[in-house]
Amino acid sequence: MKIDFNQLKNDGFVNEPVDEKLDLIAEIKRMKTEKNAVILGHYYIDADLQEIADFVGDSLALSQKAAETDAEMIVFLGVHFMAETAKILSPEKKVIIPDLKADCSLAQSCPTLEFASFVAANPNHTVISYVNTTAEIKAYTDICCTSSNAKEIVESLPKDAKIIFAPDRNLGNYINSVTGREMLLWDGACHVHNEISLEKVLELKRQFPEAKLISHPESTKPVLLVSDYVGSTAQLLKFSQVDSAQTYIVATEWGILHQMKKASPHKEFIPAPGEEANCACSECSYMKINSIKKLYLALKHEQPEVLVDAEVSKKAYKSIKRMLEISEKLGL
Ligand code: 13P
Ligand code: SF4
Repeated sequence: MKIDFNQLKNDGFVNEPVDEKLDLIAEIKRMKTEKNAVILGHYYIDADLQEIADFVGDSLALSQKAAETDAEMIVFLGVHFMAETAKILSPEKKVIIPDLKADCSLAQSCPTLEFASFVAANPNHTVISYVNTTAEIKAYTDICCTSSNAKEIVESLPKDAKIIFAPDRNLGNYINSVTGREMLLWDGACHVHNEISLEKVLELKRQFPEAKLISHPESTKPVLLVSDYVGSTAQLLKFSQVDSAQTYIVATEWGILHQMKKASPHKEFIPAPGEEANCACSECSYMKINSIKKLYLALKHEQPEVLVDAEVSKKAYKSIKRMLEISEKLGL
């Protein structure tokens, strides 16, 4: 799926010329200290940004960090819903993101009005939503989850609990299969993981018979069925470190390969391509919209700032807080 960034909302950053002789990395570090800011980055951003972030992690770890930081400003290198989650957890802090166009196809696949009708049409259900949703969807949610804790969050409810799971149908189907639950699923998907091609993955398996296929549960069922291991981005990284294989086909966004190679330089990591990919990988163009120049400008001007309506924020906070409490109790 090609994204037409011109159709999306304003990028919001101050796009002024930057002196080519300026050492942007040094400037970013200087401003960060001066402004008491912390830079949080997701595993899918470009490697140069991962290197400059104070903390790099998956969605769960990033929300935990955002909840506990004592910095005055949070600079989020990821996508909008992640920065929004940070703002909901720390409403008194300034949260900025280098480009407001860093959206998420999965969050877009769950529009507020349709979801509200779906919840109203299915009363007496506990609503569990993946954090990859807007603040409005989180306000309709009882407990949030991420791919790192979805199974445990679902299993924290009684076996016979009626559950709505949103928005990712692939993750929902996967959790239904590993827990034996029959959750009602919202029909959403992430364009990156949903398009990882079974055909191309099977071709890679033929080419590299010794390689293990490790996949993110946002991928489709056929891909998961032929996988050696299924886990969140952080779990895939961990697995690649502790497992004995030397070669891995990685079915998730290729940004994680930077950390995999760093942690295991002696191993080989092959990204799994999408259906339409013209490169040999699966890439989230929303994550890759972030850049060093935009980060520099965002820190300099302290914008674009991420803001959340106070009423929505109050309701959304409860669902994120419940997720963090359950995760803490379970040591996740
Ligand atoms: P995790 O960070 O939970 O692995 O989710 C992957 C993702 O698609 C984030 O946008
Ligand atoms: Fe959203 Fe998918 Fe990109 Fe993650 S990889 S930010 S779920 S579009």
